[in-house]
Amino acid sequence: MKSIIVLISGRGSNLGAILRAGLQAQVAAVISNRPDAAGLALARAADIATAVLDHREFDSREAFDAALAERIDTHVPALVVLAGFMRVLTAGFVDRYRGRMINIHPSLLPAFTGLDTHRRALDAGVRIHGCTVHFVTSDLDGGPIIAQAAVPVLPGDDEAALAARVLEQEHRLYPQAIRWFLEGRLTLAPNGRAQLAGAAEGAQSLINPLPDPAGV
Ligand code: GAR
Repeated sequence: MKSIIVLISGRGSNLGAILRAGLQAQVAAVISNRPDAAGLALARAADIATAVLDHREFDSREAFDAALAERIDTHVPALVVLAGFMRVLTAGFVDRYRGRMINIHPSLLPAFTGLDTHRRALDAGVRIHGCTVHFVTSDLDGGPIIAQAAVPVLPGDDEAALAARVLEQEHRLYPQAIRWFLEGRLTLAPNGRAQLAGAAEGAQSLINPLPDPAGV
């Protein structure tokens, strides 16, 4: 059975969704850069090996990333899954896992890279927001897009309400993308695009606010 490694920094709700998804893969280890990451407890409760590599104990990004790679490689994973792993990674680390490391980001990339995506979406007044799964490259939040889920931004939404609506979709989208990868259907093509074989295309359109029924 193929194995995957999940890297986290915090809550671990995406990790939870991955664990619940019944994937045909073993989560060989969950690694956190923060000792207090709540997601570590989720992993332990599921009898999954955990490791903490506290980035504050390393002199440089290079040293941290080298230690992290060494830890990951002991498991020979098919895929490295960043699930709320809040670290900027060195080019060397990213290149090592090219085509076999993915991330989920809480916006419809390329909009709202970086932090505070939900607040920034509200400030910008967008009507549609969402999340993106992408291959990781050294272009921060800019790697080839695999899949996206969109949600409406509703009147009265605050950051928490919007984040919760997006998170629900993250929990659907991320396990699906991992499943595609494990099935060998998802690859990073030589042209730099994510390539997905045999997926049903043509999701329903999302128009928000809804058009008047008689108006179109
Ligand atoms: C998720 O919303 C994920 O999209 C985001 O962190 C959260 C982690 O939640 N990731 C990023 O912002 C990466 N740039 P979780 O720990 O409950 O899965």
